[in-house]
Amino acid sequence: MANNVPKHIAIIMDGNGRWAKKRMLPRVMGHKMGADALDRMLNAAGSLGVEHITVYAFSTENWKRAEEEVKGIMGILREYINKYFREYINSDFRVDSVGDLSRLAPDLQEDIARLKEASKDRKGIHLTIAMNYGGRDEIKRAVQKLAQRVKDGELQPEDITEELISQNLDSYPTPDPELVIRTSGEFRTSNFLLWQSAYAEYYITDKLWPDFTVEDLKDAIKSYQGRDRRFGGRNEE
Ligand code: FPP
Repeated sequence: MANNVPKHIAIIMDGNGRWAKKRMLPRVMGHKMGADALDRMLNAAGSLGVEHITVYAFSTENWKRAEEEVKGIMGILREYINKYFREYINSDFRVDSVGDLSRLAPDLQEDIARLKEASKDRKGIHLTIAMNYGGRDEIKRAVQKLAQRVKDGELQPEDITEELISQNLDSYPTPDPELVIRTSGEFRTSNFLLWQSAYAEYYITDKLWPDFTVEDLKDAIKSYQGRDRRFGGRNEE
């Protein structure tokens, strides 16, 4: 496993609702078990050689779900962000976010800011949580920042490079993910890390996210290691 492990793995944690439905449980229970599945990944990832994990916790589209489910997911986020704050003290992991946090409850925004600040110099596994996140929304906000700089006369349109766009995304300076895992068998990007995953390998499994284990993570990494990554070129070049 040691060689060629993806440094950054992004995860679309799909299938929580189906997991709960199969057990006649409320959907929120599926999300809760999903948060526990994430804990398993965080505990294992560092020893596998993974440095960054980005997870899709709440999309810009998820507000359309029933109020009870939105409240439930927000409650889980609040609970886990506080748990991560307590745990960071005895561990080495660092937490960040991507997404437009301004739509979240003010106390949750404060908890996230406190956790980010407190863990920012840590060198262990780096978790980025996507909350009120949409890839298009993130790119739109980056374009607005650059447009403002052009308007202010600080920047010429021809100075806008791919690098400059990357630097204005929420995820900067985290490197792009090499591997995106999607559970529950759906073949969609769902607006997740659109810019950053341009050359990522996708690993799709039928497993529902709450059932995803460390063995499954190892299988995803093995699958990645068997891929021939060309970045648009030819590997013999
Ligand atoms: C997709 O499953 C999952 C979500 C929309 C929410 C994921 C959120 C968590 C796991 C909460 C915890 C996060 C952290 C960072 C602690 P779905 O509801 O679309 O499943 P379905 O397709 O089976 O209905």
